[in-house]
Amino acid sequence: MRITVRLAVSLVLAAAGVSSAWTYSQARRERRLLTQELDRRGTILTETLRELAVPLAARGDDAGLARMAGRLARREKPRAVAIFGKDGRAAASAGALDGLLAPPPTADPEPRCAASAGPPAARVCTAPLPDGGAVSVVYDAAPIDARVRELWTHGFWRLLVQSLLIVAITLWIVRWDLLAPLDQMAAWMRQLSAEGPASAPPTSTLLRPLASEAVRLAKRLGEARAAAEEEARLRHQGQSTWTAERLKEHARDRLQGRPIFVVANREPYLHVRRGGKIEVLQPASGLVTGVEPILRACGGTWVAHGAGDADREVVDALDRVRVPPEEPLYELKRVWLTKEEEDGYYFGFSNEGLWPLCHIAHARPSFRAEDWRQYQAANRKFAEALLSEIEGVPEPAVLIQDYHFALLPRMIKEARPDARVSLFWHIPWPNPEAFGICPWQRDILDGMLGADVLGFHIQNHCNNFLETVDRTLESRIDWERFSVRRAGHETLVRPYPISVAPSEATGKPPSKADLLKEAGATGSIVALGVDRIDYTKGIAERLLAVERFLEKNPAYLGRFVFVELGAPSRTTIPRYRELGEEVAREADRINARFGTRSWKPVVLQIGQHARREVERWYRAADVCLVTSLHDGMNLVAKEFVASAREEPGVLILSRFTGAARELRDALIVNPYDIERTAGALLEAVEMEPAERERRWSSMREVIREHNIYRWGARLIDDLARVRPGSASSAPQAEAR
Ligand code: G6P
Repeated sequence: MRITVRLAVSLVLAAAGVSSAWTYSQARRERRLLTQELDRRGTILTETLRELAVPLAARGDDAGLARMAGRLARREKPRAVAIFGKDGRAAASAGALDGLLAPPPTADPEPRCAASAGPPAARVCTAPLPDGGAVSVVYDAAPIDARVRELWTHGFWRLLVQSLLIVAITLWIVRWDLLAPLDQMAAWMRQLSAEGPASAPPTSTLLRPLASEAVRLAKRLGEARAAAEEEARLRHQGQSTWTAERLKEHARDRLQGRPIFVVANREPYLHVRRGGKIEVLQPASGLVTGVEPILRACGGTWVAHGAGDADREVVDALDRVRVPPEEPLYELKRVWLTKEEEDGYYFGFSNEGLWPLCHIAHARPSFRAEDWRQYQAANRKFAEALLSEIEGVPEPAVLIQDYHFALLPRMIKEARPDARVSLFWHIPWPNPEAFGICPWQRDILDGMLGADVLGFHIQNHCNNFLETVDRTLESRIDWERFSVRRAGHETLVRPYPISVAPSEATGKPPSKADLLKEAGATGSIVALGVDRIDYTKGIAERLLAVERFLEKNPAYLGRFVFVELGAPSRTTIPRYRELGEEVAREADRINARFGTRSWKPVVLQIGQHARREVERWYRAADVCLVTSLHDGMNLVAKEFVASAREEPGVLILSRFTGAARELRDALIVNPYDIERTAGALLEAVEMEPAERERRWSSMREVIREHNIYRWGARLIDDLARVRPGSASSAPQAEAR
């Protein structure tokens, strides 16, 4: 309340000051104008009086002077007129003289006016007569004082009304626009600190910036609380789980404070122009899902292709921008590629050559000499970008990602033998016969073996890689240590099953009904698919399984709905475009076959879905379907299990994913076997609650323990053991 009083008093004082100054100047002006007017009249009458008095005075006609004075006084209504002789006595007068004296003699013939000496207030105009006498006219000045008083009185009343209005408006604004929103805000923040951001923040524009800061703070507190609870729980159990905080400390300790540099083709944030504004997108990429939490936790630099159409607009002179945009934690360094480079290196060699080569998904790899040239050039370009970033940093830890950069480890190591270099291959590695198709297999293997640590998701991919090296290159393979020694340099080849960070979603999960309504769908049992639209993901096979399930189980018609969140990917490549069309056609066909006016079994949501949006579906769906034909790991499966659900869900998972090795309590399927996958769908929707719970909690435990921070810690551990710059730079063997 004190602020209301202070505000009102200040405003009233300010208004009083302004109003008084204004009334004062108005009163002065009014007094001046009225006085001038009175003097003008006095001057005229004085001149008239003098003209008439001169002949009469010359004749000494005092009676004539008295008559004339009386006439003028009656006609012009001054308070008094007087004619003085040269002896200073009044020769004639009319009206109340009130002690008026003869003016002192003056040589100036012009009439002069002045205020009278004493009350009553009057203006006296005088003019000299040629014989040494004078004439005077007295006008009453009391109306001028009255007018000025009236102005002050009006001023006072106006100020009073203004002050009342000011007080009322101040009270109103403070009450409704300040105190009420503050009360709401306080109530909301109380709820926030108790339950997390469960309800929407108050809508007051004044407090909106505060609300978003409060949400962030609450999230942080929530995370800290969860981490503390988890720590306490684990301490209690005598174990310790990996968290972002723990990884940060661990990395600092193991790398002795040296920074981390990630090189990946895909950037974690793209800046794009949408309707004149710059927006930030997070791409659909397992690599980004996995690696980003590591940099968030440890800080460092991510070197990537700047692929967003507004990317150049937000970087500094060194092509860097700090991300995440809402809470900058690390540097993103963008590398620019020409269209030819992107076509040859990314679409061509990486995604029409290596991608189908490494995935057994029956897509023929295409290897073109021009693409290979661009691939080499792009690897050099990224090497230069990275080398300029690590200049002056002793023994930097370099984490190269994926099949886009097979040549990069060698390039970096040659320029900076002291760098600790790892290459993590996010996709499968085929058997030696399959890899032998690649015309440049020797160069690729040699480039990869420049790394100190080479990671795959599973042991099988490591074995395939070692066998491929064995058959292709002159080298020594140590099958005990799982390492390759070539030209005096040793590369450790290890499985590091990638994973996800614990979900950060809080509050109540969204309801299925709400989500379906938003998607324009109906149903009561939701099965979910989340993919980049890629032929390795088995999306068409999944649709066939949904069709077979409905065919065999008509009881679910009208109740079951399959929602696919599909992100268009690599659409310049014809095979990807055709797949997009094929998926849409199949969905239409199945909908035409079973759908009714009010229900359709397949809902395709094609677009770049924000992480938050996908998480909402993970939390609400009953079943998640991952039917990849071949997949290094598949983080959709892990994200679903890690999502902040209240009820257990069921995961149907292809046996051809890396994730199937860890999530053994999923319903494991062969996606080529449509009949069995349809059977797994029935099993999923009819699973007994107890069984559901048992499978779910066992999978949750796996993901909780084998999370992305553990992945990062293991990789960093092995990298830290490298003896950089020495002939044998492999980490010391360690029993696992
Ligand atoms: C896979 C690859 C990643 C890639 C992602 C998305 O997960 O292993 O390297 O980033 O697909 O594909 P894109 O071509 O859009 O980066």
